[in-house]
Formats: sequence, C-alpha cells, structure tokens
Amino acid sequence: MSPEPTKTPTHSGSDAGGPGTTGHEWDGIQELNNPLPRWWLWIFYACIAFALVWMVLYPAWPTPGGNTKGTLGYSSRADVEQQMKDLEVARAAPLKGLEQMALADIPKNPAIMAAAVEGGRSAFKVHCIQCHGTGAAGGKGYPNLNDDDWIWGGSMEEIHATLVNGIRYHGNDNTRQSMMPAFGRDGLLTPAQIADVVEHVRAISRQEHNQAMAARGAQTFAEQCSSCHGLAGEGNKTFGAPRLSDGIWLYGGDRASLTATITNARAGVMPAWNERLSEATIRKLTAYVHSLGGGE
Ligand code: HEC
Ligand code: HEC
Repeated sequence: MSPEPTKTPTHSGSDAGGPGTTGHEWDGIQELNNPLPRWWLWIFYACIAFALVWMVLYPAWPTPGGNTKGTLGYSSRADVEQQMKDLEVARAAPLKGLEQMALADIPKNPAIMAAAVEGGRSAFKVHCIQCHGTGAAGGKGYPNLNDDDWIWGGSMEEIHATLVNGIRYHGNDNTRQSMMPAFGRDGLLTPAQIADVVEHVRAISRQEHNQAMAARGAQTFAEQCSSCHGLAGEGNKTFGAPRLSDGIWLYGGDRASLTATITNARAGVMPAWNERLSEATIRKLTAYVHSLGGGE
C-alpha cells in the first residue's frame, strides 16, 4: 500500500485528460468523477418541469385544511360522484312507472323488463343467494328458481305475492300457508303404510320401485295425499304442494328422504320481503325470478 492511495492511479480513467476521481477511496478502489450522461440529465430536468406544471394544475400538496386544489379544479371523488349520478339517472329512466304498472304488463314492455331484470339480478345477490344459491339453483329445502317447476306459481302476480308475503312466515297474515301433515309422527299412517306410499311416489316419479307395495300405496295416496298433491301427483299451487311426478325434488326422491318427508312433514319458510325491501325492489326481483324460470 502506498502511503497516499488517493493519488495512486489504479484506473486509466484518472490519468491526465480523464474525469479524475472524487477523492473517495476504499481499500485502494477509487471512485471516478464521470459526468452524468446527457440523455439522463435531460429526462431528469423534464421530470422536474412536468412535476411543477402538475402541481399548478392538479391537487398536489397536503395542507392543514385538506390539500392544494390545482387551477383545473379536478377531483377524482367528484369524478366518481358524477359517474354514479349519471348511472343512476340512466338506470332510473327506463324504470319510470314500474311501481304503478300492472305486474303482468312488465314483461310485455321489453325496455322496462330488461332494466328491471338487471336491477333484480343485483338485489338477488344481496338478499337471496344465502338460501337460493348464487345462480338461484337452490339446494335441499330451497327451491331451484331456474326451472319452470313452481311450488307457489311462476306468473308475475304469483311470484310477487310470494315475495311480498313470504312462505309460512310468522308475522305476515297473508303469507303463503299450508302444512303437510306429519303422517308418521302423528300416527296417521303406520310405518308399513308409509313404506308402501313411498314406493307409489317413486312409481309416479318414474323411479325404480316395488310394484306390489306401490299398488297398495296408490290406494293410500288417493285417500291421504291427493287432496293436496293431486291424484296423479301433479301438485297444487294453491296449497304449495309440490308436483311429485316430475323428478324435481325439494327434499329428495330417494327412499330415506321420502320416508322422512312423509313421516315428519316439511314446512319450508321464507321471510316476507315487504318488511325489508321497497315495492320497486320487489318488482325488480319479481321480474328477475320470472326471467329465470321461463315464467310459466
Ligand atoms: C332464509 C332463506 C331464504 C331466503 C333468504 C330467500 N328465500 Fe326464497 N324460499 C325459501 C324457501 C325455504 C322456499 C320454499 C318454501 C316452500 O317450501 O314452499 C322459498 C321459495 C321461494 C319462491 C317460490 C318458488 C316456487 O316454486 O313457487 C320464490 C319465487 C323465492 N323463494 C324467491 C326468493 C327471492 C327473490 C329471494 C330474495 C329476495 C328469496 N327467495 C330469499 C327460502 C329463502
Ligand atoms: C295438506 C296438504 C298436504 C297433504 C295432505 C300431503 N302433502 Fe305432501 N306436501 C305438502 C306441502 C305443502 C309440501 C311442501 C312442503 C315444503 O315446501 O316445505 C309437501 C311436500 C311433499 C313432499 C316433498 C316433495 C319434494 O319435492 O321433496 C313429498 C314427497 C310429499 N309431500 C308426499 C306426500 C304424501 C306421500 C302424502 C300423503 C301421505 C302427502 N304428501 C300429503 C302438502 C300436503
């Protein structure tokens, strides 16, 4: 090591005519004092100029009461608010009169129907998917709303009445009512009779079944079940008694599910929505559900 390392040329750049060194040195390695590249310097100055212009035109610096506003008066919040307002106006326009018009007329008016279905689709995501599923496909005990198989009816009026008053909902006098008897639990039928009627229900829903039992079960069905479900199991919307002959099941068509249904009965409950949702929202939901199921 030389006693004066900064003066010892270790790199050709620090020779006479080169950029020289900054005087920094570490373990014999020196830092050359090269000028900044010209292109880099110009971009750097351009950025500063851009920032200065920006600070004048747009909101930039925080101040105790908020921030500098900029001479253009731009605000991203006001921008969003304006966009929301525009959207609201655009959506409300086609829905004018939705609450006054006859329910059955809504699907006849394509512009109103389309806007209502769109609104209903968003409301459904908020209020209905917990029970009916995202695609309204339902699940055990919760009906699929996509098919054209209705327990309580799929016309605009019927769907509307179902939504407004709910199903077996305490606290609404007009709620959809009707209870299937618990044939086993209440001793109306013996387990053997129930086993027979299960076979009959499997027969009318065109599933594999025991013919002798089904024949006996047919008799019981005519006496005990047909008043609500119809002689051929076609169902009855006045009583909310599901069709049993279509292979679409709310609670399942296998022997164990059928036996449980007939022994203990079922009584699905849906809240009345008039307590929580506006008439306009219920009508949008009605239109949406109607559009899903093909609306009978
Ligand atoms: C707490 C669970 C629950 C929620 C939330 C719910 N439902 Fe239901 N819904 C049910 C049940 C259970 C039934 C079936 C009742 C029965 O067994 O008859 C039903 C039945 C229906 C029916 C009748 C179907 C038919 O075949 O006649 C419609 C229509 C319906 N729901 C629409 C909706 C809409 C629209 C929403 C959102 C506003 C909604 N439901 C929210 C539980 C729910
Ligand atoms: C007083 C009317 C009434 C009578 C009588 C009645 N049911 Fe029902 N049944 C209903 C109702 C209402 C439902 C729907 C319950 C629900 O949605 O939660 C139902 C549901 C069912 C289901 C479930 C269907 C599914 O999709 O999962 C089966 C199966 C059934 N009944 C069979 C019978 C049989 C068999 C008898 C005769 C032994 C009978 N019912 C008698 C009203 C009745």
